[in-house]
Amino acid sequence: MCGVVGYVGPRQAGPILLDGLQRLEYRGYDSAGLAIHNGSGMSLHKVVGRVQRLRELLDADPVPGSSGIGHTRWATHGRPTEENAHPHLDCDGEIALVHNGIIENADQLRSRLTPGGHSFRTETDSEILAHLIEDATGSTLEERVARALPHVEGTYGLAVVSRSEPGKIVVARKGSPILLGLGDGEYFVASDAAAILEHTRSVIYLDDGDIAAVTMAGYSIVDGYAQVQDRIVSDIDWELGTVELGWAPHYMLKEIFEQPETVLSTLRGRLRPDEGTARLHGLNLSAAQAAAIERVVIVACGTSWHAGLIGRQVIEQLAALPVQVEYASEYRYQPQLALPNTLTVGISQSGETADTLEAMRAARRAGSRVVGIVNVVGSTIAREADGGIYLHAGPEIGVASTKAFTSQITALLLLGLHLAHARGVPTDEGRELVREMLEIPARIEQVLRLNTRIRDIARIYADAGNFLYLGRGVNFPVALEGSLKLKEISYIHAEGYPAAEMKHGPIALIDENMPVVFVAPTDPVYQKVVSNIQEVKARGGRIIAVCTEGNDDLRALVDHQLWVPAVPPLLSPLVTVIPLQLLAYHIAVLRGCDVDRPRNLAKSVTVE
Ligand code: G6P
Repeated sequence: MCGVVGYVGPRQAGPILLDGLQRLEYRGYDSAGLAIHNGSGMSLHKVVGRVQRLRELLDADPVPGSSGIGHTRWATHGRPTEENAHPHLDCDGEIALVHNGIIENADQLRSRLTPGGHSFRTETDSEILAHLIEDATGSTLEERVARALPHVEGTYGLAVVSRSEPGKIVVARKGSPILLGLGDGEYFVASDAAAILEHTRSVIYLDDGDIAAVTMAGYSIVDGYAQVQDRIVSDIDWELGTVELGWAPHYMLKEIFEQPETVLSTLRGRLRPDEGTARLHGLNLSAAQAAAIERVVIVACGTSWHAGLIGRQVIEQLAALPVQVEYASEYRYQPQLALPNTLTVGISQSGETADTLEAMRAARRAGSRVVGIVNVVGSTIAREADGGIYLHAGPEIGVASTKAFTSQITALLLLGLHLAHARGVPTDEGRELVREMLEIPARIEQVLRLNTRIRDIARIYADAGNFLYLGRGVNFPVALEGSLKLKEISYIHAEGYPAAEMKHGPIALIDENMPVVFVAPTDPVYQKVVSNIQEVKARGGRIIAVCTEGNDDLRALVDHQLWVPAVPPLLSPLVTVIPLQLLAYHIAVLRGCDVDRPRNLAKSVTVE
C-alpha cells in the first residue's frame, strides 16, 4: 500500500525521486521521505503528510546526490508521524531502507535484537529490517540483505542503501511488488511502473524471493537460492498521458471520462460477432476444460466485489453455470471444501490485493483452476493465476475506482460469452449481445453529457448527512457501487440496498432529509422498482432516479431524473453507474474533499 521509488545514475536523484513519489501517492499518503547519497554521505528527509511538503522542503534546501530511495506511506504499524515515516535507519545510520509490506514476526525479531544492543526509534515493523541487515555478515550490501531476509516472516518490497556503498540500491521482493526500470546509463526501482514511466518503458518485474543489486554500471539478480537470474525485460505500453492529469482537475474525473475508451480497450480484438462469443486466449482454458466446468467462484474486494456480483448474473444467464461471489477476506479463512470442476475468478484492479491473492491461493489448494481479471500487467495476481483477462484500462490513479469497474464488467461479459460458447449454449443471444457491446463506448459517451446536470443536482444535496441507493437485479450491485463511491470520497454516510429489501429496515430512515437514488432502467424488474419508488415517495424521501431514455412515467414521482440510453439489461450497469460516479465526484468536490486521496483509504490494499 506504500509507494517505493529509487534512482541511480548521472542525474540529480532528488527531483526524480520526488516526481516518482508524487505519481505513487495514490498508494498511500500519510507521510513521505527519502534518502539521498552524494558520494560521501547520506542525507535523510521525512515529512508527515503529502509529498508536496517534501518537495517544498527540498526546493528550499536542495539535496545534491545521484542515488537515493524514497517512500510514501500508508500507515499499518505505528502512527503517521515523522519518526515512523520511511526511510528507516539502523543504529549508526549506515543502512537506510524503504519497505512496502508487513513484517509478521516483528515483535519476536525486536525482542531478539534488543539484547544485542539495538535501539529502535520508531513504532514500525519496517525499521527492524534495517537492524537485521546491520547484524548480518557479508562483504557487500546484497550479501547482508540476503542473509538477513530469511529471518523475516511476512511480505516485503524493499529498497536498501548503505552509506559505505554509494551509488548502489539493493532491492528484494516477497509478496509485495517491486520492479527495476532500465534507462540509458541509469536505473530505477519502483513499486509500480507509474513512478518511472516518464524515464523508461523497459522494466523487470522481480519474482518473489529475488534480490537485485542496482548500480550505474548495471544490475544483477539472484533468486531465493542465490542462483543468478536472467529475468525478462518487459515493455510498458502505457502513454505518459495516462498518468498525468491533463485537462482534468482530478484523476477521478479524468478516469470517469476515459470510460468510452477504456471499455473499448477491454473489448479490443476479443469479440467474435459472427459466432456471438469472445476470444480469450489469456485464459489458458481449452474448450474441453471450459466444457467441464460445473461452477464458478468469484473472489474480490471493494469495487471489484461489486463487479463480481454483476458477473454472477452475467455468467449465470449467458453460460448457465452456477456462480458464487465471495468477499476474498472472508473466503480465505473459510474451511475449504474440495473444488473439482470449479473455475475460481479473482477480480482485482491492482492485482495486488492481499486478501484476493490469498483467496485465490486457497481455492487452488482446494483443487480449483484459478484465473484473474486484472488491470495491472505483471502484478502478483496476474503472475500467479493459471490464466486471465487483462482489462487494458491503463493506470487508475484516483483511489476511488471508476474506469476499472466498467472494464471489469466488460471482462466478465466477455468471460460469460466465452464460457457459453465453449459449453455449447445457443449463440443467438450472444450475437445480439456482441452487437450491443460494440455500441457501449458510444452509449457511455452519451451518458457523460449529463455531467453538468449532475453537478447541478449535486449542489442541492452536497450537505446531506445520509444517502440511500437502491436497485434490483443486475443494478443492485450498481446501487452498492454508487453508495461506496459517495462514502469513500465525500464521507457522507451512504447505504446500498436491494430496492425491495428496503422495507425490512432502511425504510425507517426515510424522511424529507433522506436523498434516495434509484437505479431504475427499463428492464424485467422495472415495474417492481417503481413500486419501491412509490414507497419512498409516500414517506417524503427526495428521489433521484437513473432511468432509461424516453421513460417519462416517473416525472410525477421523482425529484430528478437522469436518462441513460437503452441497452440490453445485462449491459445496463455499464451505463447506469456513470451518473452515480459523477454524482459522488461533484458532491465530494463541493464539500471540499480531497477526491483523489480520500482520508484513510489506499488504492492497493496489500495488507489483510
Ligand atoms: C481498495 C480500493 C478500492 C478497490 C479495492 C480492491 O479498497 O480503495 O477502490 O476496489 O481496494 O482493490 P483491487 O485492486 O483488488 O481491485
